[in-house]
Amino acid sequence: MSQSIPEIQLNDGLTIPALGFGTYRLNGNRGASAIQSAIDSGYRLIDTAYNYENEATVGEGIRRSSVPRSELRITSKLPGRYHEYDKAVTAIQESLFRAQLDYYDLYFIHWPNPKEDLYVEAWQALIDAQKWGLIRSIGVCNFLPEHLDRLEKETGIKPSMNQVELHPFFNQEEQRAYHQEKQIQTQSWSPLARVQNILDNEVIQSVADHYDKTVSQVILRWHYQLGSVAIPKSSSSHRQKENLSIFDFSLTEEDMNRIHQLTQPDGRMNDQDPAEYQEF
Ligand SMILES: NC(=O)c1ccc[n+]([C@@H]2O[C@H](COP(=O)([O-])OP(=O)(O)OC[C@H]3O[C@@H](n4cnc5c(N)ncnc54)[C@H](OP(=O)(O)O)[C@@H]3O)[C@@H](O)[C@H]2O)c1
Repeated sequence: MSQSIPEIQLNDGLTIPALGFGTYRLNGNRGASAIQSAIDSGYRLIDTAYNYENEATVGEGIRRSSVPRSELRITSKLPGRYHEYDKAVTAIQESLFRAQLDYYDLYFIHWPNPKEDLYVEAWQALIDAQKWGLIRSIGVCNFLPEHLDRLEKETGIKPSMNQVELHPFFNQEEQRAYHQEKQIQTQSWSPLARVQNILDNEVIQSVADHYDKTVSQVILRWHYQLGSVAIPKSSSSHRQKENLSIFDFSLTEEDMNRIHQLTQPDGRMNDQDPAEYQEF
């Protein structure tokens, strides 16, 4: 049984659900069915990106679902190759055309690409697109504190959210503390670490046994209690519902800490350090 998802208010006033749905690798007809199923199961926050090549699939899933557009929060992201101002504006328009939407609730810069050093220009395009009504709330992904500081210093406007790699093997303690100080909402990508070496983790399994929950549910509850919005992806309607059912139990501080102990300094899945990694 799923429960209703609590809401969170962002620093610009937009409210979003505290748990969302990831769509990376959900494409085409099967992807649209999976997205429809997620929405009909109770997800209201749906994450896509220009580079996933599935904004059209997400739009189709929304239209097939039984939920009005106004009740949904849809996020997309600007690719690195379009950070120049004019290209960024065109990409945002293109994102909307692909999804057949009039607006995105949230739009993010996908990666800072610091070697190119155009992310402040891209941010200005997001600020303007928000003024024009194309986007309700503007955020970033994979921004380190130094990148966030520059946005605020050079434009006076800080992001509402920062979506970062976050899972039990990489708990982002310092980054989360920085977000809290700046009132920027943390969002967790790959919240289940893409289920690589995690579903059979003995520590999490023993916590899950104690609460009569699954390993995935315990991990997603851990994100929720950290104050981070997890966006697990699943192609299966059964696992989508399983992942929603995390609001009827609470992890003790001791169990939260047992999961924190799994974090490693090099715990990123693919060594994608935003100071170095570039995505176009
Ligand atoms: N901003 C960024 O740079 C960035 C980077 C990566 C991802 N993202 C976003 O974050 C979303 C989530 O991350 P992700 O897709 O990389 O990984 P994830 O959500 O951590 O894991 C997805 C994998 O877990 C499996 N799974 C889901 N629920 C399960 C359950 N209850 N039991 C067993 N297996 C389960 C899925 O398989 P099935 O589909 O077969 O259920 C899939 O293989 C993405 O979809 C994307 O929207 C953003």
